[in-house]
Amino acid sequence: MKITFSAVRLPTRGALAVLVAADRKLLGSAKTLDKATGGALTRAMKASDFQGKKDELLDLVAPWGLDNSRLLLVGLGDPKKLKGRDMQAIGSAIVSHLNGVGETLASAAVDSLGGNTKAAAASAGHLAYGARLQSYRFDRYKTKKKPDHKKPLEKLSVLTEDTAEARRVFAPLDKVAAGVHLTRDLVSEPANVIYPKSLVQRAKALQGLGVKVRALGVAEMKKLGMGALLGVGQGSARESQLLVLEWNGTSSGTRGGRSQAGRPVAFVGKGVTFDTGGISIKPASGMEDMKWDMGGAGVVIGLFQALAGRKAKVHAIGVCGLVENMPSGAAQRPGDIVTSMSGQTIEVLNTDAEGRLVLADALWYVQDKYRPTAIVDLATLTGAIIVALGHEHAGLFSNNDELAARLTEAGTAVGEPVWRLPLGQAYDKAIDSDAADMKNIGNRAGGSITAAQFLQRFIKDDTPWAHLDIAGVTWSSKAKPTVPKGGTGFGVRLLDRLVKEHYES
Ligand code: BES
Ligand code: MN
Ligand code: ZN
Repeated sequence: MKITFSAVRLPTRGALAVLVAADRKLLGSAKTLDKATGGALTRAMKASDFQGKKDELLDLVAPWGLDNSRLLLVGLGDPKKLKGRDMQAIGSAIVSHLNGVGETLASAAVDSLGGNTKAAAASAGHLAYGARLQSYRFDRYKTKKKPDHKKPLEKLSVLTEDTAEARRVFAPLDKVAAGVHLTRDLVSEPANVIYPKSLVQRAKALQGLGVKVRALGVAEMKKLGMGALLGVGQGSARESQLLVLEWNGTSSGTRGGRSQAGRPVAFVGKGVTFDTGGISIKPASGMEDMKWDMGGAGVVIGLFQALAGRKAKVHAIGVCGLVENMPSGAAQRPGDIVTSMSGQTIEVLNTDAEGRLVLADALWYVQDKYRPTAIVDLATLTGAIIVALGHEHAGLFSNNDELAARLTEAGTAVGEPVWRLPLGQAYDKAIDSDAADMKNIGNRAGGSITAAQFLQRFIKDDTPWAHLDIAGVTWSSKAKPTVPKGGTGFGVRLLDRLVKEHYES
């Protein structure tokens, strides 16, 4: 979808969306149109239940006296209470509605939200961002159009008085949306298309934006002693990879920025391109979902697209452990003991608890090589987090209250909420092993917590670290504002916000 900003001259073609405040108060262009049509808008509002409440839409098809195909009245509620996120939801609702009715050309008038043109322009930028986030479809494998197929909206023109300001607000948001769309693409692709090496290939597209992209293969990882990660991938015909991304947007190379003394901020992703469970195999029903067990890596890659796209003044490292967890004659067995890069040994009692094994070596690698000032890892790590938090919040675990608070604040601000769960000695004991330094499962109790405790054993104590368990939020079976169903991209906006607020110079 093409999005443009232009001055408020009401177009006569296509659909036209105009804004109405609470108690049917017509704003700016809506008022102009009501006069031009001899009060058609006022009569339509009266004839229907439309009050101008937030999230209310009233669709007037082929309005008398106008050449437009339709007028869409969009309820705002109290315009003074509108935040950026509310405008995003409005942009999303407009696109969602127009896609449903087959309009291909539309304009949305965001004028005089209470008189301040600059604020209205910022609102226009956020409306456009919501429209962009909503306009995502994953349909590349659909070769036949159904008879009732509706064309999606192709062009949206946002009308506002200060177009320069609107464009200034929208430009970086549009780059973040591109990152979200990339993540959605990556998690939606099936596992015959996305496997470790092909995911590395996809990430290499970011080189065009100035991101350094490297990948270590099995031979190099063996040299580094990454027995935990390699054990997971050893049953697969696809070679495991460690993907390393680096974006340095600070002016003085590795120095400068708010990142401490040149130390970068690091993001680590679980990239299990398919999780059968391995020899501890999963049931057949629903196993197809495990194509998105690389969701953590997908977020890290999408985040780097966003950061590089908007030229964020930050030094950031991304490390993703990419493996396919398969059962085969070469696969790891329950009871195998592996040695991680950290030197710690792990008894693999369940080959389906593989994400933590992959992350153990990825976390150690990033600390060993880059000494980051903070680490955030993302992983579709446990089914237990879905039992605990459902599909609304991601689970947050951290050894650092400040980092946890920052993530909580960022999540609330962008509408990707996280909920903190505890860590502690007593939970940690559950993964002590009789045969090795630790085992890769606890008992059934607190499954998401013991998984996080496992990860914490691979954090050098002074490094601020947070783990986001995104198993419940990576894929959505129902549409939400700005998030169509399917891959959500949850985490990209959250971490982009974290970087913007705390790690940029
Ligand atoms: N990838 C799964 C977790 C998962 C489950 C993600 C459902 C998304 C939706 C993970 O590798 C896994 O299998 N975890 C096991 C751990 C158990 C064996 C300790 C689980 O949650 O059952
Ligand atoms: Mn698993
Ligand atoms: Zn998994």
